[in-house]
Amino acid sequence: MGNRDKLFIFDTTMRDGEQSPGASMTKDEKVRIAKMLEKLRVDVMEAGFPASSPGDFEAVQAVAAAVKSAGVCGLARARKEDIDQAGAALKEAVAPRIHTFIATSPIHMQQKLMMEPDEVVEQAVWAVKRALKYTDDVEFSPEDAGRSDPAFLCRIIEAVIDAGARTINIPDTVGYNVPDQFGALIQRIITDVPNSDKAIFSIHCHNDLGLATANSLSAVLNGARQVECTINGLGERAGNCSLEEVVMAVRTRQDLFPCDTDIDTTQIVACSKLVSGITGFAVQPNKAIVGANAFAHEAGIHQDGVLKNRETYEIMRAEDVGWGENSLVLGKHSGRNAFKARLADLGVEFSSENELNDAFGRFKELADKKHDIFDEDLQALVTNTGVESTNEILKLVSLCSKSETGEKPFAKVTLLVNGEEKSAEKEGSGPVDAVYRAIEEIINSESELKLYSVSNITSGTDSQGDVTVRLEKDGIVNGHGSDTDIVIASAKAYINALNLMFMRKNRTHPQADEV
Ligand code: KIV
Ligand code: ZN
Repeated sequence: MGNRDKLFIFDTTMRDGEQSPGASMTKDEKVRIAKMLEKLRVDVMEAGFPASSPGDFEAVQAVAAAVKSAGVCGLARARKEDIDQAGAALKEAVAPRIHTFIATSPIHMQQKLMMEPDEVVEQAVWAVKRALKYTDDVEFSPEDAGRSDPAFLCRIIEAVIDAGARTINIPDTVGYNVPDQFGALIQRIITDVPNSDKAIFSIHCHNDLGLATANSLSAVLNGARQVECTINGLGERAGNCSLEEVVMAVRTRQDLFPCDTDIDTTQIVACSKLVSGITGFAVQPNKAIVGANAFAHEAGIHQDGVLKNRETYEIMRAEDVGWGENSLVLGKHSGRNAFKARLADLGVEFSSENELNDAFGRFKELADKKHDIFDEDLQALVTNTGVESTNEILKLVSLCSKSETGEKPFAKVTLLVNGEEKSAEKEGSGPVDAVYRAIEEIINSESELKLYSVSNITSGTDSQGDVTVRLEKDGIVNGHGSDTDIVIASAKAYINALNLMFMRKNRTHPQADEV
């Protein structure tokens, strides 16, 4: 990096990303994402909000124990229980960070906190000191900084740096700012806060106006040295600043930026696929860097130009962000050890021999149907059937579907419901519709189907279909299923969503009821 500054990358896919409705992640899924983020070489990963639920506490604890070469962070409102829970969840982390926050905009202080500015400063200082009992790496965020009075921001920031906060994060919580204004705010804070040299300044931008990356880059040009971001730009509402965009903008425009990250950009596409597979949030084809079309050239003139000299129309190389041929990894004759080792490389570890045997059985079934098995197939095998399948209330026993020109599609489904076998037969407008009607005949879930989407996991007609189903009933869940037969994949996805709906536990949202 020479004499360039380091730009720290703080990934919040597992915390702010998880706050997207329907994007919740299990403990095992978080551990898998964490291991990929470690390979990507992020500096810090925010693993969750431990006080939100016992499940998230355990997930943060598991990530803290699994990660060896990056910081692991837990979010905490500026109150005792939250900070103590975060401290406890991070006990095993090699480099633990507590991120505590309190709102500073007039509207949040008056309407949500019902606190006077003086009380907010006092609470923030108290929270930072409490967090320091657990780790010397404490980050503070004045929530809704983008709509806060800059003079008040400078006052609270000076106080928390004095109290010992090492990182000061400036969130544009509601995505209201525009690049010049946000950059100027960062510059003003760094200039006006007398002890600003004792902290690293960070930004956390939401994408409500589609400006999260632009605002983050403007802040970097004005002195911020940590960017908070998520894989694929996942996050509340319109999402957060996208990690891949900010990293590649800084890397590609080294002529403009006085800093660079330590990110191994060749891991970007794999991370993107893992996160979209786990959450069911598909990546739009024209998404920068990780969209399927991001490096595809259709217009003849562009193709001609690229063939003569790549740089006529390409500013980055596809292989530098991890696009390449699918690498064939396993086949029908691969053994249990090769299977286990490859999944370990992908960040999947089995907690028991039974779990490994189950997954290996599914792999053998797949290998009978599909000649070449790629990493993406293996990811789907454990994501969609779930390494936690032992907790499932519903299991698919058998499915028969029939569609024929001129006939009404028909399906017969048999499920195990809490260990008891139940069957139903239904007609529908298509085979998937018939299957879903049959499942509902058995379960009567009263949920509403909000999304049904199918994509191919690898290329070719022998690819597995990957189905996402979003159901709504007292909240949203996303289910996934994959199979070389898309009707079966659809049934698996629907059943997965129902299982998640039955197992879902209530969580506290971090931005509600802060103190
Ligand atoms: O958007 C936001 O303000 C946040 C804070 C908790 C940092 O996510
Ligand atoms: Zn946020």
